Amino acid sequence: MSNRGNFSSKIGFMLAAAGSAVGLGNIWRFPYLAGTNGGAGFLFIYLICILLLCVPVMIGEIAIGRKAGSDAYGSYQKLGGGKWGYLGLYGILAGVFILSYYNVVAGWAFGYFLEISFGNLLSEPDYGSFFGSFVNNIPPLFLFSLGFMVITALIVAQGIAKGIEAANKIMMPGLYLILIGLIIYSLTLPNAGAGVNFYLVPKLDQITSKTLFYALCQAFFSLSLGMGCLITYGSYVTKDQNIVKSAAIISIADTSVAFLAGLMVFPLVFSLGAEPGQGPRLIFVILTQAFQSMGPVVGRVVGGSFFLLICFAALTSTISLLEVPAAYLVDQKKLPRKPVVWGVAGLIFVLGLPSMYSQGIVPMLNKLPIHNSPDFLSFISDLCDIALVTGGCLMCFFIRNRWKVQNLHTELSIGNASYAGSFLQSYVDVAITWICPVILTILSILVILDKFVGLEWLFG
Ligand code: TRP
Repeated sequence: MSNRGNFSSKIGFMLAAAGSAVGLGNIWRFPYLAGTNGGAGFLFIYLICILLLCVPVMIGEIAIGRKAGSDAYGSYQKLGGGKWGYLGLYGILAGVFILSYYNVVAGWAFGYFLEISFGNLLSEPDYGSFFGSFVNNIPPLFLFSLGFMVITALIVAQGIAKGIEAANKIMMPGLYLILIGLIIYSLTLPNAGAGVNFYLVPKLDQITSKTLFYALCQAFFSLSLGMGCLITYGSYVTKDQNIVKSAAIISIADTSVAFLAGLMVFPLVFSLGAEPGQGPRLIFVILTQAFQSMGPVVGRVVGGSFFLLICFAALTSTISLLEVPAAYLVDQKKLPRKPVVWGVAGLIFVLGLPSMYSQGIVPMLNKLPIHNSPDFLSFISDLCDIALVTGGCLMCFFIRNRWKVQNLHTELSIGNASYAGSFLQSYVDVAITWICPVILTILSILVILDKFVGLEWLFG
């Protein structure tokens, strides 16, 4: 195990894990999901999911990884034996598919960065129709996405390089600063109050079964849970780290970025008189309109840096997604790291092509005969959501019934002298033994039904 490498410092792990968590999920997906699912009601349920279900799962994943010191497959196999390794493979596969469409959306963000900084995007008359043609103009998108995958692979091929740790130290505070600046700007616009009200004042009648499912799936996605990403990162963590504390900090960092992204977007949406429920195009349309209203120079600088930061946030996530299958092949098949990384990256890029072509240019990929998933990209993303929630659920059963909660406690008290006998221990105990397995089992079944057949017959 000694030659697998470790994070060079405590802060290195935290940054990498927070970098994995903070990504398109926070800035792109969270605001549009909140917009289509009731605003404040969504936020409220989302926060409950994080506290009650996600933090314990995160703690479990990191602990499994550190204890076993192996990739997702190898860790389950080592601690569980028998067929448990398949649970790791299930997660690895989910990660491969997530990266396939994630990289396409990252390409969009990269394209917007270029179009705003160096092109004439800020003089467009209609950003809704611009976005529609932008995502169907394949040749440049192909290059943007390919470029993104190549950069990801370059970094992963080097191992967890010091460059990434250092770059994160600048990028993460930079992201916060720009977010806060944009929030202040958007709060001063006319009718911003309506946006704040939509986002922060829950109206109970807006909370439906859908709100719950989407919030749960989003929470898993945003925290990078359920597919062994944090098992893999956990396997590079040294024994002097306090896992519970790290999980808390990572969750807070991630949740605060999502929260702030919503606080930036909704006042803008309402002050522009726009519709919050417009789906994946939301930030691409609304934010560019806001940047345009700042004038040609300021808009270019602020808009350009904003999309650049989104790209950085996405990059630290794509790195973590590519690391999971790569670590598996390096650890289990004893293949050399560099060719593995390039091979897997190429394969995943090809797997992403149907998603790239699914926004209208190929009608077959745009109108799937599947409930709730209008295009191929949403379909894959829905399937992956299901894989994350079920994967997290099965991880709880793995700890509860196979590895045993006592072993989890032992692992968690390494690097945390005050853990044994603490309130935290009781919380982790109840959460992993009862709350998560029971609630996640019920919700997994309902989420699957919802995505494939719909639940209107059940909830009206
Ligand atoms: N959490 C990232 C985001 O919010 C995406 C991501 C990275 C991810 N690694 C993951 C999602 C592992 C699920 C599992 O953008």
